[in-house]
Amino acid sequence: MADQFTIRRATESDAENIYNIHIAAIRSKCSTHYSAKDVDIWVARQDKARYLPFIQASEILVAEGEEGKILGFGHLTRDAKETDGKTMQIRGLFVDPDCGVKGVGSTLLKELEKKAKELGEVDSMVVHSSLNAVEFYKKYGFIAQEITTHQMCEQSSLQCHKMIKKF
Ligand SMILES: CC(C)(COP(=O)(O)OP(=O)(O)OC[C@H]1O[C@@H](n2cnc3c(N)ncnc32)[C@H](O)[C@@H]1OP(=O)(O)O)[C@@H](O)C(=O)NCCC(=O)NCCS
Repeated sequence: MADQFTIRRATESDAENIYNIHIAAIRSKCSTHYSAKDVDIWVARQDKARYLPFIQASEILVAEGEEGKILGFGHLTRDAKETDGKTMQIRGLFVDPDCGVKGVGSTLLKELEKKAKELGEVDSMVVHSSLNAVEFYKKYGFIAQEITTHQMCEQSSLQCHKMIKKF
């Protein structure tokens, strides 16, 4: 299984694939827990150019499968809400719903954790998990905290579950 893909840092030429996976995963996986209207607004807010600064900052990892196909991505950044610099935030973890390969999301998650630990002073990771992925994060040691609300626009907000993993 593990030899079906490798994990590497995203480059700018991955932006379009990252975008396509992001919207496909929202539509396919998140629509179980969010309304069609919220999913439409969520998807419409995505933009290929949005990933470039994160890619340039080396914050995004991708899983690359056979023939260079991008299967998923994970985004790790400093948690802007924590002032002590000890918490890293998972800003996104999305797998191509049609990739047909198991283990992509969990491998990306483990690599994000490894990356966080390599920063030395970091002692925890936080994610505002979409409701459909809460059980996934639990499986890898995240503890559910409070529900948080992300206002997307005046007409729509997304409820997420804040989850923390202490090292
Ligand atoms: C959540 C997601 C990243 C998981 O990626 P994946 O590649 O499908 O997961 P894996 O194949 O690595 O699965 C690892 C294990 O987690 C389980 N799992 C995967 N998704 C799960 C979910 N949503 N709920 C509960 N368990 C889940 C798998 O069954 C597997 O279990 P096993 O080892 O006992 O067989 C992926 O489904 C996705 O992109 N979802 C939509 C986007 C999303 O909600 N991301 C989180 C936003 S913060």
